[in-house]
Amino acid sequence: MKEHNKTLGEFIIENQKSFQYSSGELSRIINAIRLAAKVVNYKVNKAGLVDIVGAAGEQNIQGEDQQKLDVYANEIFIQTLINREIVCGIASEENDDFITVRGSDNSHTNKYVVLMDPLDGSSNIDVNVSVGTIFSVYRRITPVGTPVALEDFLQPGVNQVAAGYVIYGTSTMLVYTTGHGVNGFTLNPAIGTFYLSHPNMMFPKEGIIYSINEGNYVHFPQGVKDYIKYCQLEEGDRPYTSRYIGSLVSDFHRNMIKGGIYLYPTSSKAPKGKLRLLYECNPMAFIAEQAGGKASDGFGRILEIRPTELHERVPFFCGSYAMVEKAEDFMRNAKK
Ligand code: AHG
Ligand code: MN
Ligand code: MN
Repeated sequence: MKEHNKTLGEFIIENQKSFQYSSGELSRIINAIRLAAKVVNYKVNKAGLVDIVGAAGEQNIQGEDQQKLDVYANEIFIQTLINREIVCGIASEENDDFITVRGSDNSHTNKYVVLMDPLDGSSNIDVNVSVGTIFSVYRRITPVGTPVALEDFLQPGVNQVAAGYVIYGTSTMLVYTTGHGVNGFTLNPAIGTFYLSHPNMMFPKEGIIYSINEGNYVHFPQGVKDYIKYCQLEEGDRPYTSRYIGSLVSDFHRNMIKGGIYLYPTSSKAPKGKLRLLYECNPMAFIAEQAGGKASDGFGRILEIRPTELHERVPFFCGSYAMVEKAEDFMRNAKK
């Protein structure tokens, strides 16, 4: 069988042995995410139809259909994980606090927590542009049998055992890592099956794409302003090309395939940056490093930051290794 004919289900079973603790729980979590991704995909694809169906006088459009898609995606991912009794806790962008999940027999014996951004790039939904889901998985640090605690979620990104994203784009893909490289699976919507389409994904070491919201230029730190000017200068392979979708998942995905850097720095408007460390930056940083790329807050490695809050924000520089290194040079030099 050709590698690209392999399904995600087969891939998960084949790779279970290579997980650090091979109890099958992590495989079941990935399986639950696979299922929730298909449900959300179905809903995302219907998003533009709701009004048309409604205008045609369809009777049974319930409140559910009007629900904002990020709330819907949140509920689907949470319910799928809860129903399968495989995690001890979930944290989400959409919930102020983490959720305690009991396992079978009402116990607290499950070992993993999941953190997620259920719908990333949600402002793009109404204009038919790609959105995504981001997830991150840790082994709990509190003793099994006790209720999950905040410290189980506030672990540095280096402790992640799995991370991934779903991109609801021209096709729907699930891309994830368990620390053994990055693999991408494309959904065949006709039969509802993900197939391994992008084995062993790698960031090109160099790239020519820079992705940043340049509308905030005047508010950026000097190092970022200098880096942008460097990208625009004509020399060698430059000027670079600018691409910004406004969905981290989509910008990251394109940059991983083509070579590029994504930047969301601090600004005078957002002094800590905008993106969230725990369920946006850490999972993407883990994937980036596993794909030979680099992720930084401008000065140091994202994955080594010690989180203090569930929803904390951090500046984010992520992508092709040499490009992130260059941006860090500019940050350092501007500080001198
Ligand atoms: P979310 O939809 O989960 O709130 O995330 C949006 C994030 C990220 O995906 C995107 O790259 C960034 O916000 C865009 O921010 P700006 O509109 O400020 O550029
Ligand atoms: Mn987001
Ligand atoms: Mn979101």
